[in-house]
Amino acid sequence: MRRILIVGNWKMNKTASEAATFVRALSERLHSVSTQIELVVAPPFTALQAVRTALEPSSPLQLGAQNMFWEDQGAYTGEVSAPMLVDLGCRYVILGHSERRTLFGEQSDGIQKKLRAALRHGLRPILCIGESLQQRESGMTDDVLTQQLNETLSGFTAEALSGITVAYEPIWAIGTGKSATAEQAVAAHHTIRRVLASTISPEQADSTRILYGGSVTPHNIESLLASNQVDGALIGGACLQVESFATIARVASIARSIGV
Ligand code: 13P
Repeated sequence: MRRILIVGNWKMNKTASEAATFVRALSERLHSVSTQIELVVAPPFTALQAVRTALEPSSPLQLGAQNMFWEDQGAYTGEVSAPMLVDLGCRYVILGHSERRTLFGEQSDGIQKKLRAALRHGLRPILCIGESLQQRESGMTDDVLTQQLNETLSGFTAEALSGITVAYEPIWAIGTGKSATAEQAVAAHHTIRRVLASTISPEQADSTRILYGGSVTPHNIESLLASNQVDGALIGGACLQVESFATIARVASIARSIGV
């Protein structure tokens, strides 16, 4: 059984002091949320330490990072490595987000190196893939997802990839308020699972969590999680307010407990 995973990607939001205040308030609102689901916050690098310190040992929140570099150390000005993230208590790292791909020129070969480094250091990568509006409208969604997965995951053993999560984030749905419908998300998740089955193994495809991301809100989370193909969500805008993130977490924990 795949455990539901809800990840808040803060992007470039909140100073370290704002972050500490925020997670303290959020942790209090999460007391009643079932521990059967996993909850992750991914603040900017500059706030990781503050969030770590602010989290009580009893908080259900785990720590994630939004990116990393593939080398462990060296002359790479401005970069942050996997061992640095592990040392700060990070368990997850988001890789290949479309904003990294489009704004910072990230490509599959670099994302693959990051994936390798993350796995080597025991971080759990959340690999983001997704099509543009133009690609969707020209019927290329399945091809784009297949290519992104193949380019990034080729050459790994099934065992090495046992810690990964895939996030389906259609670019046209990110920050637009126009979420994919549950049907569109489920169809894409089926495609992703089919590709994982053929490139890695059927068992691995079955156990890998696939999240949906793109304009997830407290209002649409229930319908997105209604299919057991959707194992959670990667949330941008709606994770920045205590109330909306807490509501999403609560709805997600109920979805799991009634086994939908
Ligand atoms: P929004 O939820 O703001 O659309 O962002 C989604 C996202 O990019 C999460 O990684």
